[in-house]
Amino acid sequence: MDAFRIKGPCKLDGELEVPGAKNAALPLMAAALLTEEEVVLQDVPAYADVGNLIRLLRSLGAKVTHDDVDNPLGGTVRIQSDHAADPTAPYEIVKTMRASISVLGPLLAARGRASVSLPGGCAFGARPVDLHLHGLRSLDAKIELDGGQIEATAPADGLKGRIIFMGGPNGPTVGGTQNVLCAAVLAKGRTIIESAACEPEVSDLVRLLRAMGAKITGEGSPRLVVDGVERLHGCTHRVMPDRIIAGTDAIAAAITCGRVELSNYPQDSLLGVEDVLQRIGVRFEFLDDAKDLLRRTVRITADRRQEAVEVTTQPWPGFPTDLQAQLLAVLTLADGNSVVTEKIYSERFNHTAELERMGAVFHRIGPAVVVRGVPRLNGAPVMASDLRGSACLVLAGLAAYGETVVSRVYHLDRGYHRLEDRYRRLGADIERFNADASDPDDPAAAIEIPAKPKKSAGKKTTPT
Ligand code: EPU
Repeated sequence: MDAFRIKGPCKLDGELEVPGAKNAALPLMAAALLTEEEVVLQDVPAYADVGNLIRLLRSLGAKVTHDDVDNPLGGTVRIQSDHAADPTAPYEIVKTMRASISVLGPLLAARGRASVSLPGGCAFGARPVDLHLHGLRSLDAKIELDGGQIEATAPADGLKGRIIFMGGPNGPTVGGTQNVLCAAVLAKGRTIIESAACEPEVSDLVRLLRAMGAKITGEGSPRLVVDGVERLHGCTHRVMPDRIIAGTDAIAAAITCGRVELSNYPQDSLLGVEDVLQRIGVRFEFLDDAKDLLRRTVRITADRRQEAVEVTTQPWPGFPTDLQAQLLAVLTLADGNSVVTEKIYSERFNHTAELERMGAVFHRIGPAVVVRGVPRLNGAPVMASDLRGSACLVLAGLAAYGETVVSRVYHLDRGYHRLEDRYRRLGADIERFNADASDPDDPAAAIEIPAKPKKSAGKKTTPT
């Protein structure tokens, strides 16, 4: 099983490109099931989760290729679906990745039927799909649970456009909005999705669906209006840049008091993050003419210890839960006490216990954590247990004195392609090595990592 050895502290300095976004690419790939014509997606990096979804799409009868994977922005995925194929997404594949649920809406709309295994909880708590099912039922789908499978059937004359309220106790749902949107584009009549998620990845899906012939307005707002069409066609679409990787890189510059120049930087989706990072003392200097806010070039600099801050994670455009762990890493070294409240996943704090091994000081109060800034972190062996928590440990390792070994980096590989190469290019002393091939919890057998495929056993929860 792979681990990272990091010798710190280091000061990152150099240039990077922001690749295409995993969380945009996965639902876009699933949406390709809505047509039998070829859908071409550019800037899709070879993340482990992309490999898992390709396996799932193939098992659903689609022809899928992924080329040019060494391109730093990501390769090209070509998908051609077959509506006559079996619409069953089996547990063996769904259990490797929660985002597998994104095939439910497209399959139901395009094939009239879907059987998708119910994803379990994940490393940071329960991840229900009740709102996905509520939205699809509102379109007149019949949905039953049978042996852990979601069995969904459309009426013989197709799904019906309806007015649907999609808000839940924790606010809107990104994946639920995307699933219902994909079903509504082929439903008869008008659908209004109220309390839709406004996340940029939903807007990217709207752009793809529109290029396929769908009629949708309202993206980026809580009300999506969809006028159903009879069929969709193929198209070529460039996936939006990854706002979470860009944010991770910005925080890497901050924690190492370094300088990172990012191209293909999606400023449009990161204003809430920039605001927090500027408040702690990070500088953003844009090097282009601001013609395209989605793809900019920026120099991010931090030349001193950061200030403490109070932050609450929120749906977009607020500070994203997917950068909470990375932000905590830099706040461990800030001047003063910070308070970070997690409003999306109240249990998403596995990384704090590992950071404590490096000398960080936290006080947890329910969904909030008080971070007491310490003068320095010290290298230690630490263990990743989810994707963003792993990135947080790598960032802490870059700033810590001495050697940090981050084990179980298969979590990191789900959403960062060879992060060690990325930061080594900027001067970090970081290497990947095989720590212990016999770890019983390593699910790497289920994950396709192009660089070094491995084999081993399963894992208890459905990964993020
Ligand atoms: N929720 C419900 N019922 C539902 C669906 C969601 O109560 O039917 C709750 C969730 O428990 C959570 C909140 O609503 O408290 C938001 O969940 P959401 O459905 O928006 O999350 P998701 O679509 O499953 C995506 C990202 C996550 C990211 C969240 C929030 C993908 C593949 N995943 O998940 O990304 O944290 O949105 O922004 O797009 C990650 O990349 O590390 C990651 C976990």
